[in-house]
Parts: sequence; C-alpha cells; structure tokens
Amino acid sequence: MTQILPADARAIARAVEILHAGGLVAFPTETVYGLGADAGNPAAVARIYAAKRRPGFNPLIAHVAEAAAALREAELPTAAQTLAAHFWPGPLTLVASIAKTCGVCDLARAGLASVALRAPAHPVAQALLAAFGQPIAAPSANRSGYVSPVTAAHVVADLAGKVDLILDGGRTPAGLESTIVSFIGPEPTLLRPGALPRSEIEAALGTRLATPRDASIVAPGMTAAHYAPAARLRLAAQGLEEDEYGLDFGGQLAAEAPAGRIVDDLSPGGDTTEAAAKLFAALRDIDARGLAKVAIAPIPNDGLGEAINDRLRRAVAG
Ligand code: TXA
Ligand code: MG
Repeated sequence: MTQILPADARAIARAVEILHAGGLVAFPTETVYGLGADAGNPAAVARIYAAKRRPGFNPLIAHVAEAAAALREAELPTAAQTLAAHFWPGPLTLVASIAKTCGVCDLARAGLASVALRAPAHPVAQALLAAFGQPIAAPSANRSGYVSPVTAAHVVADLAGKVDLILDGGRTPAGLESTIVSFIGPEPTLLRPGALPRSEIEAALGTRLATPRDASIVAPGMTAAHYAPAARLRLAAQGLEEDEYGLDFGGQLAAEAPAGRIVDDLSPGGDTTEAAAKLFAALRDIDARGLAKVAIAPIPNDGLGEAINDRLRRAVAG
C-alpha cells in the first residue's frame, strides 16, 4: 500500500519511521522526486532497485543534509569542497572516493569504491535528512528508463504499490536532475549536465570541466536510452511533418503549424530555465495524450540548454 501525504511535520516523522524500518519514501527535491531508502541498509536499497526495475545495479546518489555529513562519506578533494561550499544545498552531485567512515552500503554504490553525494536544497528534503540523520540513497522516483517525476502524481503513475509513502511537496522547481561532477580522475569531470549550469561550476572552480570519453562507463546509470517516452521524437525540428505534433520553444514552430498541432511551448519567452522546469511534465503529457510523433523545436545550448538537449538526445535514443 502506498500512502500519499502532504509533506508536513507529521508526515516527515512518519517518513523517518519508515526509513528506519527499511521502507521506501518518495520525497521532493529541488530537481525531481527521489525514491529514498536508508543508504546504510542493503535490504532497503535492494527494494529501490526492485521498485524501479533497474537493469543491473546502477549506483545511487546518497543524499546528505550538509557538507559536514558528506565528509564522513567521501574523501572530498579541496576543489570538491569548494564546490560544496558554493552550491550546497543545491542541485549539484559530487563523486569522490569513499572515506573509511563511509556508511553508504556496497549495494547503493553498486560495489564501486566511489560514492555520489548531494545535499538537496528543497525544504522537505532538508527536513527529512535532518530528522533521519543518516544518508538517504535515492534515484529519481520513476520506473527505470522513463522520464523523471516532477509531481507526486508522476510518482504515483510509476510506482504506486511499490513505495510505502510519498511526501507530496508540489511540483519540483528545477524540473531537471542534478549536475554530476566527478573527482575520481586527474581533473574534475562533468558526468551529467543538469540543473546547475556548467558555466557556474567552471566559474567557481576557475577551470574548465573535462568531458568523459564514455559516460556509460564512468556513470553507469547514464545509458543512452534513459529518459524515453513512448512517442517518437524528432529534435531541432524546423517545422512539422504531416503526421507530427509540435513541442515548441520560443514560438519557433507555432508560426507555420496547422491549428491545434502545437501541444505546448516549453518557454514562449525562450528561457532555458523555464523550459527545464517544464520538460519532463511535457514529455509525460505527450504520452498521456497518446501522440505517436512529436517534433521538438531547436533549443539553444546555453544555461540549462545543455542538460535539456542531453535528456532529449537520450529520449530519442530510447
Ligand atoms: O537530481 C537528482 O540527481 C535526482 C534527485 C532525486 O536527487 N537523483 C537522480 O538519481 O537523478 P539517479 O539515480 O536517477 O541518477 C544518478 C546518477 C546515475 O547516472 C549514476 O550512474 C550516477 O548518478 N552515479 C551514482 N554514483 C556514481 C558513482 N560512484 N560514480 C559515477 N556515477 C555515479
Ligand atoms: Mg534517474
């Protein structure tokens, strides 16, 4: 049975009980909803993989309340600590070697000697982490291979019956997963573009971020077909073909499209932050309407455009 509660103090206390008992709690972060379990409890973490039907055991992000807690889990190099000081709590995940005191279980790390850590900024996530007092392992709360959930209703659609409690905190503000930076190699590497733009991270570091040669090896969860809706998507479309609907950006497709064929505009004003917040709900809506073919307007690569275009390429590969 899945319980859905408004994320007030009583619901958070209930969530903490469930986590201590090895159960699963879905909760809002500033990026997307997470499917959380006690990161130190392998039986609880195994339930995450089962609920999501994840192929294999991709490593999960361990969520912590603050940088001090992250230092117990990982050997964060100075540059990583600089980023934590700048951007935590916030939509940035840091990958580093595990510390001797690391409490994140092997299964949550998929057996790696590294761990991915993030201190989320959402008040509900903050309250839950503070009350639980231990790292919470949480991937996005969607079934594996589908788009990440940005509302409690999306979590229900994907995971009803498989999660003990959903804390409903409304729609998540950023709408796109966190940016992941790895400190495992010789230089800081952008494993996944996300809700914190590359440019801000590079400004804080004073260096460019490296790009991994093969992201599917470095970040095992980043398989190409990872955000795939059922509809067939065509990217950077200049116009609509006969049997296509359009997902617009900045009104580029609307001018030439037949009436009623533009399903939505991710940002009429051409703002990539607004478009990121709307992206996953728009993709779910396309499937909910049963549309077979959708053309998506070109989206510039600046700001959050890099992460949006990354997710759209994966959506097409699926
Ligand atoms: O915004 C987010 O990051 C959301 C919210 C819930 O925090 N979480 C999320 O988790 O997107 P998930 O599991 O869907 O994506 C985590 C990514 C995966 O691609 C995984 O491979 C990578 O993080 N990852 C985790 N641990 C890693 C590690 N030790 N080394 C490299 N990549 C790692
Ligand atoms: Mg995910």
